[in-house]
Amino acid sequence: MKKRIDGKTVLVTGVTGQDGGFLAKSLLEDGFNVFGTLRRGGHPKTERLKSLGILDKITFVPLEISDFSNVIQILSDVRPDYIYNLSAQSFVVDSFRHPIITTQTNYIGVLNMLEAIKLLKLDVKFFQPSTSEMYGNNSPKTLTEKNSFSPSNPYGLSKYSAHAALKIYRATYDIDAVTAILFNHESEYRSTEFVTRKITFQLAQLKNGSKRPVHLGNLSAARDWGYAEDYIEAMRLIAESETKDEFVVATNSLNTVKDFFTRAAFYMGYDPEFEGEGVNEKCIDKRTGAVLCEVKKEFFRHSDTKALRGDYSKIKKELGWKPSTPFDIWIEKMVRHDLNLTRNKN
Ligand code: GDD
Repeated sequence: MKKRIDGKTVLVTGVTGQDGGFLAKSLLEDGFNVFGTLRRGGHPKTERLKSLGILDKITFVPLEISDFSNVIQILSDVRPDYIYNLSAQSFVVDSFRHPIITTQTNYIGVLNMLEAIKLLKLDVKFFQPSTSEMYGNNSPKTLTEKNSFSPSNPYGLSKYSAHAALKIYRATYDIDAVTAILFNHESEYRSTEFVTRKITFQLAQLKNGSKRPVHLGNLSAARDWGYAEDYIEAMRLIAESETKDEFVVATNSLNTVKDFFTRAAFYMGYDPEFEGEGVNEKCIDKRTGAVLCEVKKEFFRHSDTKALRGDYSKIKKELGWKPSTPFDIWIEKMVRHDLNLTRNKN
């Protein structure tokens, strides 16, 4: 089903992020020319690309995706065969603090891309990652491509708007645009504001001598978590095949923040045990009595998306994809990475 086309040009927006880094590495290994966008101003965060060994293999171009003239200019200069639009304001909590910026990047940015493709008459395959956050809270627990969307935060709304725009442009202007509904996907390259990496990074700091336990919000919150590199493979399968369909990309299993924490602490070499309830709940290391984590009110969300689980049967049947890295394996990988990173840093 998958069609590999070496030597073609790919533009990856958000190339410095977790998904951008993994995607660029995978594309470079297969012989694509990779252009990556950097935001204007500020210091580009290129540590991930350096660590992945691909920093000098990417051609960087400056792009502010919410600025239409800039989008037109970059697309007409680069003339890519593929665009993966991975730039986003993706932290749900920040979307409540900055709903307009979130919308400008996640929705207006996509409209700018679609309009530019239309006006320049580009022969390009456009991949837009959509999210399980589009389902919101009015959904059954297990979700497929057939369930309806009802986002419950500004982030979900912005991604849903982009998702809907993509379908309109595809139907009206025959733009070759595809998408996938991605559930949470994590790795050692995840930013530390997201709960999985916050846990492995801060636990590693604790293990390497800091005195501060990890402060968390709702320990019972559950997510369908997968390993990011597997999800990149799914994105490429969709973008490089002839399909115009959309697919849920998930693991179809749920774990709580507490489950994740317990495993991460175990791989750090602790013997974790939770005690207490609600905001008084904490985790201690049974061997030493050290406090590993405490619950803090400030990390609870006013409105948190409930536990959503994704059914990936369709992509498995049609494109042969399934999540291949088991939960415990990628947690251990994150732990090893963060122990190395924080060694001698306290
Ligand atoms: N970030 C964070 N920090 N989350 C916490 C904490 C904490 O201290 N304590 C508990 N949680 C809970 C949150 O309330 C939420 O229920 C869950 O952990 C996961 O939070 P995040 O890791 O921040 O991810 P998310 O589920 O809100 O969103 C991620 O996944 C979506 C679906 O793929 C993001 O990557 C989104 O961009 C993405 O669309």
